[in-house]
Amino acid sequence: MPIKSSEITPEALYRQRRRMIALGLASLTLPLTSGLFANTKEQDMPELGDIDSDGQGKLTATKLETINSYNNYYEFGFAKTDPSQAAKTLITSPWSVEIGGEGADKPGLYDIADLHSEYAIENRIYRFRCVEAWAMVIPWNGIPLAKVIKAAQPNSKARYVRFQTLHDTQQMPNANWAGGPYIEGLTITEAIHPLAMLATGIYNQPLEQQTGAPIRLVVPWKYGFKYAKSIVRIDLVESMPRNTWWRQNPNEYGFYANVNPRFDHPRWSQASERVIGSFGRQKTLLFNGYADQVAYLYPDLSDRRYFY
Ligand code: MTE
Repeated sequence: MPIKSSEITPEALYRQRRRMIALGLASLTLPLTSGLFANTKEQDMPELGDIDSDGQGKLTATKLETINSYNNYYEFGFAKTDPSQAAKTLITSPWSVEIGGEGADKPGLYDIADLHSEYAIENRIYRFRCVEAWAMVIPWNGIPLAKVIKAAQPNSKARYVRFQTLHDTQQMPNANWAGGPYIEGLTITEAIHPLAMLATGIYNQPLEQQTGAPIRLVVPWKYGFKYAKSIVRIDLVESMPRNTWWRQNPNEYGFYANVNPRFDHPRWSQASERVIGSFGRQKTLLFNGYADQVAYLYPDLSDRRYFY
């Protein structure tokens, strides 16, 4: 959906407006009803500087230019600068997302424009942590994933949610790097958690191709490889989806991929992280700083399965 230039907020103005909103708005909560959704805890939505930062001070949002130029999107190449250079040709409008699977009583095909008109776009400033031990802070705009899942009317077979992204050998120079489309997954309870969202923008500007236009997953307590870009299918399924990185290297990557400073990657430490756009490193936080909101989903914090 084209956005008029008058609707685009320059980064400085956006930051100022966020500060004002943070003063007046203590929390945003997602009203959840019936069945599966009745058991979901209502959560306070983190605002900038509002997140448990372990004595590291207030969060500073990463500059848009940095967010848009340091990327992982292997379908466009393996170097961090490849996606911003190569992805420009990807056509992202029109675009539709198919929602189905054996766990959806109401499957559907949604045009991105329909999603925009049906759901209010919400703003969330989240820490972002890549499994490669680098971090950013990103002001996302998007739709709570729970709302989209609820509209698909999950039945008792909806135990997991599987995300499939665009696989187009014409438009993506490295489309076949993983032998097929990029796949990610969440448990149904993770997927309906109020922190999980489908992002469509950053700093009130539509996502660029390299950041996953026109729609991507955002799960701030997990490593960045969970954030599937340019999603074309969402399925509610009975068995645990085998996500791309798990299939690529099961000794190093699993399904849950929750951030934990105590469980190192086999080839590097996860105890600290490099802050992109500044000079130092900082300590990694359990669940990337969202432990208060999500730890209840994982009953055994010594279970390594949850953290790779
Ligand atoms: N989605 C697709 N389709 N292809 C990818 O290669 N890379 C993942 C994730 N989503 C990837 C993807 C990885 S490893 C990370 S860290 C994040 O996207 C990077 O998101 P960013 O470039 O917006 O920072």
